[in-house]
Amino acid sequence: MFSATEKPSEARDNSTDPPLLEVKDLKVQFPARNSRGEAALVKAVDDVSFEIRKGETLGLVGESGSGKSTIGRAILGLAQMSAGELLLRGQKLNLKKRSDSRKLRAAVQVVFQDPFQSLNPRMTIRQILQEPLQVQRKPQATHAELEAVLDQVKLPHAALDRYPREFSGGQRQRIGIARALMLKPELLICDEAVSALDVSIQAQIVNLLMDLQADLGLSLLFITHELSVVQRISQRVIALYCGKIVEAGDSRSICQDPQHPYTKGLIAAAPEVGLTSEEREFRKGLRVFGESPSPINPPSGCAFHPRCPLMESKCKNQTPQLRPLDKSIPAQAERKVACLMVKSK
Ligand SMILES: Nc1ncnc2c1ncn2[C@@H]1O[C@H](COP(=O)(O)OP(=O)(O)OP(=O)(O)O)[C@@H](O)[C@H]1O
Ligand SMILES: [Mg+2]
Repeated sequence: MFSATEKPSEARDNSTDPPLLEVKDLKVQFPARNSRGEAALVKAVDDVSFEIRKGETLGLVGESGSGKSTIGRAILGLAQMSAGELLLRGQKLNLKKRSDSRKLRAAVQVVFQDPFQSLNPRMTIRQILQEPLQVQRKPQATHAELEAVLDQVKLPHAALDRYPREFSGGQRQRIGIARALMLKPELLICDEAVSALDVSIQAQIVNLLMDLQADLGLSLLFITHELSVVQRISQRVIALYCGKIVEAGDSRSICQDPQHPYTKGLIAAAPEVGLTSEEREFRKGLRVFGESPSPINPPSGCAFHPRCPLMESKCKNQTPQLRPLDKSIPAQAERKVACLMVKSK
């Protein structure tokens, strides 16, 4: 789908600045019932920490139910945090304070998966673009500002007085991105934003997001279950399983040399378009089988152990911590893995 010569733009983080957003020890739990009908908790996100730097794209990958959207929703203030902290540009936010939650809402916007459901069919594109400003009680955008945002997402100005039904899926996703840009966010959360689109349209929207990132210095949290797209757009990747980070690091080395058996499985599950026969054979050896467990009652020790080809008895009892893979190589300093069977140096 993507040319091997095209690479994600380099992160523009100035290392003396604090990260744009830090997520520390985030837990999100939902009340639920277990199989016996008793009150229980879904640990949708369980002690997750990461940072997003200015101008970088962080990929968040994992199977369905691993907690990706819940992390995005917690950052947006749409899912209540059971524990943990959010820091914006180094400042801890108290989301119970209206001024802090306003700061976060001004800085973070979201683009959802389904461009057919997320746009109100009775509103013109002009109204759709004005709505976020209305909600935030900000002055309405001028006609010239609306045209400028359409230029940014490469849609014709005539779109303003049309309705969503007059546009294709890819064009609607451009409208969704334009709506998210109206409040001039610093971080855009893209939750499966290209997953519902055809492969060729996916590539166009990914290119658009990369252009916007370069032009506007945006940071992106790119949530997807498809590692092939993440490899193209993200500088760094986090792999989530059962609400926990199991592997993290720069996207190139994770995709080329995954360490956690689960991350290997995600790579093996990615579309095979354009692969050589050797690459297909290599992937076969990485496959993992079985389903994600219920986060109401996850397996003991390492939650991945029942599906893991490397499993030993200690994996049933000990919970692996996320630890650096090889501290001795500076380029590897950010590669972390939570697996008892992977040796670190
Ligand atoms: N409001 C809620 N109430 C109860 N459980 C919830 C709620 N929202 C999410 N969950 C549960 O939390 C877990 C994580 O869900 P989440 O939607 O974050 O997963 P995901 O990784 O985004 O999956 P997908 O790839 O299918 O979108 C799942 O077990 C889900 O059923
Ligand atoms: Mg989701």
